[in-house]
Amino acid sequence: MKRLDKKDAPVNITQTEKFMSENDFIVSKTDTKGYITYCNQIFIDMSGYTKEELIGANHNLIRHPDMPAVAFNLAWDLIKKGQEFFGFVKNLKKDGGYYWVFAYITADYDSKGTVIGYSSFRRKPSRVAVETIAPVYKLLLDAEKKGGMEASGELLENFLAENKTSYNNLVINLQKS
Ligand SMILES: Cc1cc2nc3c(=O)[nH]c(=O)nc-3n(C[C@H](O)[C@H](O)[C@H](O)COP(=O)(O)O)c2cc1C
Repeated sequence: MKRLDKKDAPVNITQTEKFMSENDFIVSKTDTKGYITYCNQIFIDMSGYTKEELIGANHNLIRHPDMPAVAFNLAWDLIKKGQEFFGFVKNLKKDGGYYWVFAYITADYDSKGTVIGYSSFRRKPSRVAVETIAPVYKLLLDAEKKGGMEASGELLENFLAENKTSYNNLVINLQKS
């Protein structure tokens, strides 16, 4: 079966949001390249894809065009170094709608300490956090459209320096809001 990726994602994007419930947690695991090797039922229910479509697909299948690339670059930089990533992510559903998550990504190691893939766990995001971060993502995306990754990276760095925080700390504090 064809391995789906973002080129197979819906083109008719809608403003219909699906909300996670308080006790939901979405789990997926990938290989070292970001191809999905495991997903739980809530991921299937939230994304609208079948398990067969998701297993083997590139995780970018559910990448929403409102997400700035710099967020994913930061995530990959951290997890490849064996560090954890926390972030608010807007995901694209198969029907063109979307859902926000509070995501945590970390590396999976085998018994010899080799990274064999990555795991992600997501919970319902704080509404205040989503409302705070969405306009920041919009600014980053606009910067990317004009000046590429360099521009959005600089904007993000300045924002974090002004607020004397790291990306992960900003995100964790927002989730508490
Ligand atoms: C374990 C894991 C989970 C991920 N979860 C998501 C996700 O839920 N949504 C998403 O858009 N990208 C997720 N990503 C990031 C994607 O691999 C990819 O970097 C991102 O969608 C941007 O894709 P692109 O650079 O091909 O445009 C995840 C990556 C890993 C390793």
